[in-house]
Amino acid sequence: MTPFLEIMSAHRSIRKFTDRPVDAYLLTSLITAAQCTSTSHHVQAYTIIQVTDPDNRQKISDMAGPQPWVAQAPVFLVFCADLTRLVSACRNRNVDPETGWTEQLLVATVDTALLAQSLMLGAESAGLGGVFIGGIRNDPDLVCDLLHIPEHAFPVFGMCLGYPDDDPAPKPRLPLNMVFHQDRFPETIDDREMAAYDGIIRAYYEKRAPKLTDRTWTRQMADFTGQVIRPHMKAFIRKKGFSIK
Ligand SMILES: Cc1cc2nc3c(=O)[nH]c(=O)nc-3n(C[C@H](O)[C@H](O)[C@H](O)COP(=O)(O)O)c2cc1C
Repeated sequence: MTPFLEIMSAHRSIRKFTDRPVDAYLLTSLITAAQCTSTSHHVQAYTIIQVTDPDNRQKISDMAGPQPWVAQAPVFLVFCADLTRLVSACRNRNVDPETGWTEQLLVATVDTALLAQSLMLGAESAGLGGVFIGGIRNDPDLVCDLLHIPEHAFPVFGMCLGYPDDDPAPKPRLPLNMVFHQDRFPETIDDREMAAYDGIIRAYYEKRAPKLTDRTWTRQMADFTGQVIRPHMKAFIRKKGFSIK
């Protein structure tokens, strides 16, 4: 284990923070370092918006769940997939922008997610903790209205950051042999391995949240995958100029 791998392996989402503010210089240093993350074609198709206005924070916090940590965290960031600068570059160079392609949606979303994960790891290396907030997609129009996010950009997720006031154990991940394979995709999924992992996750939740019953991984995934989640996203994405072609 290198020190960096130790930081990666110690990750756990933090939803409770001390009052200690996050120094503005630290935050900008983390973002500057995260910008060094690989980016498809060097497009850097992202914009980060720090939400400092308490009213907007509260509105987003309520809409996202409610998720009180969105209002309470010392820092709350919204990560936007952003093609506006590329469209602008086209205009500057008298090129008609080809927008609305699925590939661009993937490029911008992947770029945004990689940047954000680098930022999260950098923050953890500096003693901060945080949590991603996909809940902002419950009402992405509200986020666009509050933060003035234009066409060709959309909010992918938020992120709370601050000094942890909680120390949950890292959540066990799937065993390596279920996610890493040589030369070909696995033919079958081994139910016994899934059952064994269910046991590990059940034991994890028994310690962390004893009131939760049947918190196995397959139960959670079946609940998640057995329902329609945020069906408005297709129309929203189209409206923002990322319509699927
Ligand atoms: C894109 C994304 C969106 C997420 N959205 C939320 C969220 O809205 N609220 C929340 O409490 N956690 C959210 N999470 C955190 C996950 O629930 C968490 O990462 C996962 O359960 C694994 O736990 P760990 O981060 O503690 O290891 C999100 C994570 C990701 C990557």
